[in-house]
Amino acid sequence: MIKTLNVLLAERSYPIHIGCGILSQVDLILPHIKQKKAVVVTNTTVAPLYLEMLRSALEKAGISILPVILPDGEQYKTWETLNLIFDALLGAKCERNTTLIALGGGVIGDMGGFAAACYQRGMPFIQVPTTLLSQVDSSVGGKTAINHPLGKNMIGAFYQPKLVLADISTLDTLPDRELKAGLAEVIKYGLIRDPEFHDWLDANMEKLLARDKEALAYAVQRSCTNKAEVVAADERESGERALLNLGHTFGHAIETGMGYGEWLHGEAVAAGTLIAAELSCRMGWIDAGDVVRIERIFLRAGLPIVSPVLGVDRYLELMSHDKKVQDGKLRLVLLRGIGKAVVSEVASTAQIAAAIEARCT
Ligand code: NAD
Ligand code: GLY
Repeated sequence: MIKTLNVLLAERSYPIHIGCGILSQVDLILPHIKQKKAVVVTNTTVAPLYLEMLRSALEKAGISILPVILPDGEQYKTWETLNLIFDALLGAKCERNTTLIALGGGVIGDMGGFAAACYQRGMPFIQVPTTLLSQVDSSVGGKTAINHPLGKNMIGAFYQPKLVLADISTLDTLPDRELKAGLAEVIKYGLIRDPEFHDWLDANMEKLLARDKEALAYAVQRSCTNKAEVVAADERESGERALLNLGHTFGHAIETGMGYGEWLHGEAVAAGTLIAAELSCRMGWIDAGDVVRIERIFLRAGLPIVSPVLGVDRYLELMSHDKKVQDGKLRLVLLRGIGKAVVSEVASTAQIAAAIEARCT
């Protein structure tokens, strides 16, 4: 059964289709392919698993594909790799109307989307996310980017896909560590705005870790419902959308500081969320019991709850590049309770430093 949600953005609205075994249901994709060829951007890990399935389904419908197979890893989310996509698009004389399909996790989705935003000033693109993290978060909402040595996702564009096709069956082949990393972004929705979902996650974590399809499909749907609502209200992050960055200011500092690819994005978000929780507690906004509850849910998901020692000054330096900085002032997503996040700039540097210190080992 397919569940369809919609991201409501006027003329840029699009559906998110969620289901098991829907990768080859190209009737969902075909309305967005205007030519007899399409480009599939993927990587060396995902191509052997899922490219053929997509290719044969599209070929049966009369569409030939140009595969662009990139090296795998966060460390390749760079200008150099992006250029490989442009080389392939130009080499094959792709036009403005050629559709680009991003088949893979968040790295492929972010880079494929950015390439689509730039090529001939914008070509249609489709997200086919194959990791839990990309199905619950990165494929929805139109944030596309590459990394810079000085900061994560610093170069990019807001560019919405034409649709998202999330096949839960692709999660069967996902390594355990990646599944757990995806759970960090799932847990995020409960913490920032959906306390009932937090309770559901508390009750169903074992099923998710055991890859129970029904539980995974529900977690993807509920996460995407939350994300679609936030994005519809604030597409370009002038307000509420910033809440989706709970733990990310600290998390991005961990990813950049440790070297891209060392800590997975979800792992860094988990540890970063505990720094945000620690700071929220120090501000008197949540109590120690809440911090323990947050620790517990990340621990049960097999995620880290302490951050690496980079030195507080290094954290603060890395965090000064955060995209939420305004007029040089750091704005952080903090908690006023489980299920209630706020964006705040009231924490002093000393308070932030103390929270980082307390959560690093
Ligand atoms: P990823 O794209 O690196 O994928 C994780 C690993 O799983 C990779 O090795 C990949 O090749 C492999 N893989 C993918 N699908 C697989 C499958 N079905 N079976 C087996 N292996 C598979 O990482 P990710 O966690 O999906 O995404 C993280 C990235 O997403 C980060 O760069 C982060 O900044 C970005 N992100 C973007 C947004 C956004 O809104 N655009 C939101 C959250 C995260
Ligand atoms: N992952 C944060 C956002 O999409 O805004």
